[in-house]
Amino acid sequence: MVVVRAPGKVILYGEHAVVYGEPALAMAINRYVYVMAKARNDNKVNINARDLRLAGVSVTINEDGDIVARTDYGAVISALSYVKRAVELATEYLDKRVGIDLEIRSEMPVGAGLGTSAAVAVATIYAYIKELGYDIDKRELARLAWQVEKDVQGSASPTDTTMATFGGIMYVKPEGNNAAMEPVKPGTSIPLIIGYVPRVSTTKDLVAMVRKKYETMRDVIEPIIRSIGLITRKGREALEKGDLELMGALMNINHGLLDALGVSTRQLNEMVYAARNAGALGSKLTGAGGGGCMIALSDRVEVEKAVELVGGSALRARLDINGAIIESDD
Ligand code: PMV
Repeated sequence: MVVVRAPGKVILYGEHAVVYGEPALAMAINRYVYVMAKARNDNKVNINARDLRLAGVSVTINEDGDIVARTDYGAVISALSYVKRAVELATEYLDKRVGIDLEIRSEMPVGAGLGTSAAVAVATIYAYIKELGYDIDKRELARLAWQVEKDVQGSASPTDTTMATFGGIMYVKPEGNNAAMEPVKPGTSIPLIIGYVPRVSTTKDLVAMVRKKYETMRDVIEPIIRSIGLITRKGREALEKGDLELMGALMNINHGLLDALGVSTRQLNEMVYAARNAGALGSKLTGAGGGGCMIALSDRVEVEKAVELVGGSALRARLDINGAIIESDD
């Protein structure tokens, strides 16, 4: 039996602008997807993913006093299509098929923009290959997992699969159809509190919405995008120097610009401002927006509570430097 873990990620700066050739800064977090793989005597692939469901549940009381519970089953089902494709590609890679029991567990909400689908793909491929007694180079692992994302989604940036494979902090520089990733060393520890609410729009729709604005009001939107690019470059410098104050100030400006692009929501804004009022050095939405996650630069319990008071779920996170690793192998 083999257990592999792979980390999720947040985008510190640069989402959306990265689609227009600007850099982004991504950080792997110490919140993991775990995949346990155990070979079977037959040819069946058996997936047990009960724990994936714990994410994304919100309970509210509406104006009529009814209790309304929402959960993200769509995201759970979608996570399973990543597992299925990952097993197929790992089988092709080894040119060997065996039956396998897979158990998947996530410490992060699924489908919230924390890169859980990439972590699922990376951990599944790695666990399958290891359980069959083989090894794989990390570059190959990242490439196969990216292929899983492209096959399931139609298109995908390699950022999430790179982060889940290698960990650390990466400066993402778009280069034509590819993205070059440069590891960045932080000058200090980066404490984050992640706030989460269910998503109301998909990444695809949000990217298309920004594209439409860009095409119809290019003179207005272009400077916003270039400004975000500048923030990312300065954010990288601040990170390398360990200047948390400056990092926070830049996060706040980045959030304002993302809001200007129209990708924030009332709930995201509420969490962002609640975190600042509770003493965070800075806060912004992270990922595509339309609900999902925000990050606050802080390790204060008050910030966690403030995020929860406005209806979000809170998660503490720090840097993961290992990427995908084998937790146990026996
Ligand atoms: O929600 P995420 O973490 O998948 O981030 C999306 C980032 C975008 O810049 C909005 C899209 C992209 O492909 O880079």
